[in-house]
Amino acid sequence: MTVPKFTALKGTGQKISMVTAYDYPFARLVDEAGVEGVLVGDSMSMVVQGHENTLPVTLDEMIYHAEMVGRAVNHALVVVDMPFPSYHLGKFKAIENAGRILKETRCQAVKLEGGVEQAETIAALVSAGIPVMAHCGLRPQNVHQLGGYRVQRDEQALMSDACAAAEAGAFAMVLECIPRGIAAKITGMLSIPTIGIGAGADCDGQVLVLHDILGMASDYAPRFVKAYANLNKTVVDAVRGFRDEVRGGDFPAAEHTFE
Ligand code: KIV
Repeated sequence: MTVPKFTALKGTGQKISMVTAYDYPFARLVDEAGVEGVLVGDSMSMVVQGHENTLPVTLDEMIYHAEMVGRAVNHALVVVDMPFPSYHLGKFKAIENAGRILKETRCQAVKLEGGVEQAETIAALVSAGIPVMAHCGLRPQNVHQLGGYRVQRDEQALMSDACAAAEAGAFAMVLECIPRGIAAKITGMLSIPTIGIGAGADCDGQVLVLHDILGMASDYAPRFVKAYANLNKTVVDAVRGFRDEVRGGDFPAAEHTFE
């Protein structure tokens, strides 16, 4: 999948699926499953590193993981989140940091959170040949300013952000946690695909965090999440089975043993 082919999926009737991945084995599996996009999300900060929000993950850590994902994926488009504050320190710093992502991983695009106030940065990245996926609506990197993870309902602000990011040259846009009606309007207004998470069924595609899809999340799951498996249980059952067989002397058996 290339960036132009991804954008061209808009209006074809084919909905776009995208999931996160943070390491080689899972990236290989999600690519095999046939999704159009793989996102090395800064959700890694919470999902993999165990932090309480997405702020702690660093650019070096994102690159370290994106390189593994980039090597595993042969079909899907791989997009890497620019972590906070790797694109907030001016256009040149943003190009330098996004450039590192493209040079040091095999990934094809970056994603950053923001609309109106990031339009200049998006335009600068695009003019440097770096494809940008925008992220509007709820922006988890602004959690302290927002006072929590809440549905974003200011229609005028959301429309302005979406227009600004698209006009700046974004090739696609994540819409997070906004009412379905507003997401539908934005989707109808833009010529680039919208990828929703908690934004209803009218977006051009959907993205979810892999660990949520697999039922590997911790106790809290937001309303927009759907688990398609219960790997928490599968993993605990498997490791318990191993522990019990070791304790009972049943593992290793003859077939696991060299004579
Ligand atoms: O970091 C992430 O996983 C994301 C998705 C939730 C869209 O930005």
